[in-house]
Amino acid sequence: MTADQVTPEPLRSTSSIGTSLLRRDGVEKVTGDATYAVEHPVTGPAGEPPLHAWLVTSTVARGRVVAVDATAALAHAGVVSVVDHTSAPRLADTSDRELAILQDDAIAFRGQIVAIVLAETSESAREGAALVHVEQEAEPHAAAFQEDSPTYAPESVNGGSETDTLDGDPDEALARALVTVDATYTTPHEHNNPMEPHAATALWDGERLTLHDSTQGPRPVRGTLAPMLGLAEEQVRVLAPYVGGGFGSKGLPHAPEMAVALAAMTVPGQPVRLAVTRQQMFALTGYRTPTRSHVRLGAHPDGRLEALRHDAVTQSSRVKEFAEQAAVPARVMYAAPHRATTHRVAELDVPVPSWMRAPGEMPGMYAQEVAVDELALHAGLDPVALRVRNEPDVDPDTGNPWGNRRLVECLRRGAERFGWADRPTGARATVDGEWWVGTGVAASTYPMLWMPGNIARVRSLDGGRYAVAIAATDIGTGARTVLTQIAADALGCPPEAIDLDMADSDLPFGSVAGGSSGTTSWGTAIVAAAQQFRADHGEHPDPGVETTAASGQYADMDGHALHSFGAVFCEARVHRYTGEVRVPRLLGVYSVGRVVNPRTARSQLLGGLVMGLSAALHEEGWRDPRTGHTVTQDLATYHVAAHADVRDIDAEWLDDIDELSTPMGSRGIGEIGIVGTAAAVANATYHATGVRVRDLPLTADHFL
Ligand code: MOS
Repeated sequence: MTADQVTPEPLRSTSSIGTSLLRRDGVEKVTGDATYAVEHPVTGPAGEPPLHAWLVTSTVARGRVVAVDATAALAHAGVVSVVDHTSAPRLADTSDRELAILQDDAIAFRGQIVAIVLAETSESAREGAALVHVEQEAEPHAAAFQEDSPTYAPESVNGGSETDTLDGDPDEALARALVTVDATYTTPHEHNNPMEPHAATALWDGERLTLHDSTQGPRPVRGTLAPMLGLAEEQVRVLAPYVGGGFGSKGLPHAPEMAVALAAMTVPGQPVRLAVTRQQMFALTGYRTPTRSHVRLGAHPDGRLEALRHDAVTQSSRVKEFAEQAAVPARVMYAAPHRATTHRVAELDVPVPSWMRAPGEMPGMYAQEVAVDELALHAGLDPVALRVRNEPDVDPDTGNPWGNRRLVECLRRGAERFGWADRPTGARATVDGEWWVGTGVAASTYPMLWMPGNIARVRSLDGGRYAVAIAATDIGTGARTVLTQIAADALGCPPEAIDLDMADSDLPFGSVAGGSSGTTSWGTAIVAAAQQFRADHGEHPDPGVETTAASGQYADMDGHALHSFGAVFCEARVHRYTGEVRVPRLLGVYSVGRVVNPRTARSQLLGGLVMGLSAALHEEGWRDPRTGHTVTQDLATYHVAAHADVRDIDAEWLDDIDELSTPMGSRGIGEIGIVGTAAAVANATYHATGVRVRDLPLTADHFL
């Protein structure tokens, strides 16, 4: 689809934006009418019921498949076929080795797909998978991420940022600095665990592949899979009307989507369902790489930073490179004339790491914001005051003026509301019965990201209604609701007059629901199309006329540094005898531009805070280096925060309209809530106990 490019004007008059419109899909979701990826009632052209797929995965960390013996599986009741690397359809392009499954005998990590069982029921598929005998030849492997793992410098890091930056002479400046921090901070394997595991239903009719997928991006999935399958993009249709969360793990297509597509192509006319198990997700759908950040800060006695170094090492796989950008946020946070950031990657025989909510910012700001807390201690300054003292006038990275940097206001507002002024200066100063009590603060940041290429279509309907279409999906964030509000204001009608059509790759291009860029990018496109529609058809259009417009770049990304900021305040209690950590209070104050829907925005920010709390207290995946196996592959052993962990938690935002980022005045909000939160908790546990923990999570053993 081609469409003229339109750069929208700011939305001057708004009435729906800023209101807490109820979720448009709330009723379907809570009543169970919403059909998720493996719930669509799909049948073949002659009414064929779906087959069920089950994945068989490797049990060695490196080596090759010698033989797949399916005899016992095929003899099992209900099993229809077993697809392996000798029988799978050949791909037209195998350069993406994460997705090019079953094309050869190579095993590159434990948990890799080596066969797919198709059966009449889910149970028989699972039983059949257990009966497939895969003979594997193991080769020596390296699966432990450790200090002496060999590393290399990637060409760039996630998001396309530069691998290294250098300003001035930080090493010399650090050597002569009077107040310093020199410490290493680590974060463990963290695994995205959306409520709905990865799942898809596929139907190949001989001409066209239809995929009901649980994805953050129907068009990106189509655009990735089609050429690999040797198909034109129009031959693939991806639908994702309801998605039970993603947190980045559904942002890029992963191997299970290719598995169900290949399986469907072996049985033309017959639908195939695949529900990835929670256990299989730990190897097949991406995860946050463990990170090691060496942070060095050098300051004057008054706390002003003179030098800053952040050297980050992360893990990647041999199959596909993923370089988490952990040192990138250090480039924009604080003024210092001498600065260096570097990223190095250890390539191991492990599953492919990928996006997990705020990749880069989350682990990087953990390291940096604990280091800044340590610097405040060494300088004898309050941690809020130290941060205020190091506010940069312009973006230290680009030299551009700030679009809307209101970190100091977030810090001050949070401090006031949290009662920060009453805090005892020293650590280990407050005890309440059997608990040490302390408070901590950390800053938060996330860039304003805008995705090019979005296209929206506006069509007038009878009765003053409008159909608005874009292929983007709502993964549970509230996008369907928020885009309805934006469309209503852009067209000058109430939200009830908008029929929003989305989550179907046959619609005009919508970019991934990732990088907190959805509302920004799709909303800008909808405003562009609505304004063009008005220009084309006037205020009172006849029913049935339409305009399709491609979004020009609205955001002033070249002229200004566009980022969101926030401040997180935490009260922690650490049990004197068991080391148990509790967080009775957690508060985030954010500057995120204008909030389109306070109800859904609050939910995003609180969700981010909970996920940061979860990382602080619990989340730790553990890979057995002997086997390469993630032993913590369920929610019994991979702990996430539960309701009992979340006490008095709140998020608020500054009153704001960002006229430089979007015509709505908004920026993104999906990720900033997780950033800095774990550091605030760690800093609070230090203040409570005097024990500085630099390695997440903050488990009890650290405090004993
Ligand atoms: Mo988010 S990790 O950018 O999907």
